[in-house]
Amino acid sequence: MPQREVSALTPIEAQIRHSELAAQITAADEAYYGQDAPVMDDAAYDALRQEVLAIEAAFAHLKSPTSPTQKVGAGAGSHFAKIVHAVPMLSLDNAFARDDVAEFAARMGRFLGINEEGTIPLTAEPKIDGLSASLRYERGVLVHAATRGDGFEGEDVTANMRTLPDVPHILPAGAPDVLEVRGEVYMDKSDFAALNAAQQNEGKKLFANPRNAAAGALRQKDARITATRPLKFFAYAWAEVSTMPADTQMGMVAYFKQCGFTTNPLMQLCNSVDEVQAYYEHIAHIRSQLPYDIDGVVLKVNVLALQQQLGFVARAPRWAIAYKFSAEQAFTRVEAIEIQVGRTGVLTPVARLEPVNVGGVIVANATLHNEAEIARKDIRVGDTVVVQRAGDVIPQVVEVVLADRPAHAVPYIFPDVCPMCGAQALREGADVARRCTNEATCPAQMVGRLIHFVSRLAFDIEGLGERTLESFYEKGLIRTPADIFTLQARNAENFTKIDNMPGWGAQSLANLWASIDARRSIALNRLIFALGIRHVGEVTAKDLAAHCYTIEAFLTLMQDENALEQLTSINGVGETVAQALVQFFAHEGNMHQVQALLQHVQVQPFAAVGAAANGPFAGKTLVFTGSLETLTRDAAKAKAEQLGAKIASSVSKKTDFVILGAGAGSKKLEAERLGVAILTEAAFLERAQG
Ligand code: IVH
Repeated sequence: MPQREVSALTPIEAQIRHSELAAQITAADEAYYGQDAPVMDDAAYDALRQEVLAIEAAFAHLKSPTSPTQKVGAGAGSHFAKIVHAVPMLSLDNAFARDDVAEFAARMGRFLGINEEGTIPLTAEPKIDGLSASLRYERGVLVHAATRGDGFEGEDVTANMRTLPDVPHILPAGAPDVLEVRGEVYMDKSDFAALNAAQQNEGKKLFANPRNAAAGALRQKDARITATRPLKFFAYAWAEVSTMPADTQMGMVAYFKQCGFTTNPLMQLCNSVDEVQAYYEHIAHIRSQLPYDIDGVVLKVNVLALQQQLGFVARAPRWAIAYKFSAEQAFTRVEAIEIQVGRTGVLTPVARLEPVNVGGVIVANATLHNEAEIARKDIRVGDTVVVQRAGDVIPQVVEVVLADRPAHAVPYIFPDVCPMCGAQALREGADVARRCTNEATCPAQMVGRLIHFVSRLAFDIEGLGERTLESFYEKGLIRTPADIFTLQARNAENFTKIDNMPGWGAQSLANLWASIDARRSIALNRLIFALGIRHVGEVTAKDLAAHCYTIEAFLTLMQDENALEQLTSINGVGETVAQALVQFFAHEGNMHQVQALLQHVQVQPFAAVGAAANGPFAGKTLVFTGSLETLTRDAAKAKAEQLGAKIASSVSKKTDFVILGAGAGSKKLEAERLGVAILTEAAFLERAQG
C-alpha cells in the first residue's frame, strides 16, 4: 500500500498500513538485534516508526501490546518477540486403537449424560505433521501471527506468516471484529525433497523431514527467505472470536474456507466409532499418496455447544482426540527388488521403495532379509507394503497389502547366480542365505572385505570411505588390504593417478596418507577382526588375541595340525568359529594376503592395548543417542572404550548409562522407562576426565 497522509486514511486503510509497517519494523528489529545484520539505515527505520506513531495517534485502538511502538527490539538473544496467546494453544490426547476411540466417545457420553455410545457426531480430519500457528485478525486485518511456543506464549512470526499464499491478509466484509484462526504450517513432501536437493547442491545442511524444513523456514529471521520457501497452511481451529460465524466445527471450517483460507478437503463427519475406524483406515491407506506428511487423524465433537459443555482437562480438550498411526509404520510401494552382495558373499535382497516418512525419517529402502523371507511374505515388485522402523534398526517390510496388488505383479524369483560376478550362488545346508561362491575374486566380496578392513573397530582408517574404496578398487589401485599401505609409494612413482582424480587435492591426499600411516602399527585384536573371517566378531577377535598374545603365536596356531582342537579350547571360541578360522587360513590366497599385509604393518601384542581396567567407565555398558556437540559419536565411543566402557547400540536393563545428545528420541524414553542413568554430554566428559 502506498504511503498516504495519515489524516486521509480510512480506519481499514490505517489498519492495513499499520500492520504493514509493524511487519517491516519487526523484520528490521530482528535483523538488527537478532542477527547483527541491519536491513535498512537508521533514517529509514526512524521514518517507519514515525509513521506508526502518527497512525496510532489518530487511531488509538491500533496501539495494541504487540505494536512495535510498545516493545523494544527483538529482545537480547532471542530472535523473535514474544506474543502471549489470548487463548492458550493446547495439545491433544492420543488414541492408538479403536478401543481408545470407543472409550473417548463413551467418556464424553457419560460426561454429557448421554448413555448410548457413538451418538455424538465427530468431525474427522488428517493430523498434519507440521507446526501450529495462530493468526489474529482485528477488524478483518491480519495484525499478528504467533507460533505455539509453550502453549501460553509463542513467537511473533507475523512477517513470515504474511508470506504464505494460504494466509489472507484481509478478511471479507462482515468478518468478526476479532478472529483468531489457528492451523498447521507445513511443507509438501515434494517441496521438501526439492529444497533438500537445492541445499545439497549448495553444500548446506539438509533437513531431516518436511516438518523440520517447515520449522526452519518459519523461523527465518529474514521474512524474504521465508517467502522463498514453499510453506503452506491449513486452517482447522480458532481462539478468540468476537461473534461466532457458525455453531459447528464443520461450519467454522467452511467459514474459514470462505475467508480465503485453505482447509483440508479430507475433513468429514462421522456418526459412530465404526465410521471413525473406517475413516482412519482409509486415511492410513492413502497416507503415502498424500502430498504432505500426517501422523494420524484428529477427531472433534462437531456441535460447538457440546464442546463448550465438555470443556478441558489439564492441557487438552475433552471434546477432541488425536487418533495416531503407530509411529513406526507407513504404507508405500515396492519399486524394485535389488540384490546386494556383502563381504561374506551373502546375497541380501533390498526393497527400493517409493520414499515415505516413517516416524519422522524418510525411508527409501528396506531389507527383505533373504530368499525365504520374500517367499513367505510373497513380496512382489509393484506391491503396496507396510514398512516399519523400530528404533535405529534398518527398515523392514512387515506385510503386503494384497488388495492393492497390481494385476501384472509376478512372484519374485531369487537369482541363483551372483549379480556382481556371475558366479554360482548357493545355499548350503540349513543356511538361509544364498552365497556367491567366488570368494576369491568377486568384486563385491573384495570391496566388502576392504570396507570392513578399514572400518572403525578394525583398522579405523579415516578418509577411506566406502565410495573411495569402491572407486580405488575399480581403478585397480586397491585390491587387497596390503595395497592400502603401498598406495602412497605407488602414487608417488606415478603421480598422475590419485592427484588428478576429482575430489582429491594436495590437502586431502596428505590427510589420507597421514591416516594410513597412523595405522602401520595395530593391535592384534583389531588385525584379527579386520580380516573379516566369518563368525569372528570384535569380541571373538579379542578372545583370540588375549589367548595368543602375539601375531606370531596366532599364525603358528592357525597352521598347527591340531588347530581345531586347540581353538575350541579357547574361552569364547566354539566349533563354528574354530572351523571358520581353520578354513580361512587353509586357503592359500588368504594366508598370502595376511603375509603381504604384515610386510607393512607392525602388530602390537594384545596386553599392550585394551580397556583401562580401572578407568571411570570400567566394566560399564554405555549407549550413545542423539547428536553430540563437541565430539563425533565415534570419537565419544572410542574415548569411552579407552576408559573401560563397553558400548551397546540399544538400551536394556544391562545398560549402565545413556549419553544423551540433541534430538534423542526412543532411546531416551526407553532409558527413562527402565530407570537407566542418563548423562548429558557435559556430564559424560566430566566423568571421563576422572
Ligand atoms: S486441533 C484444541 N487439528 O496436533 C485442539 N490439531 O497434538 C487444537 N494438529 O498442536 C488442535 N493437525 O499442531 C488439530 N487437524 C488438526 C491438526 C492438529 C495437526 C497438531 C497441532 C496440535 C497438535 C496436537
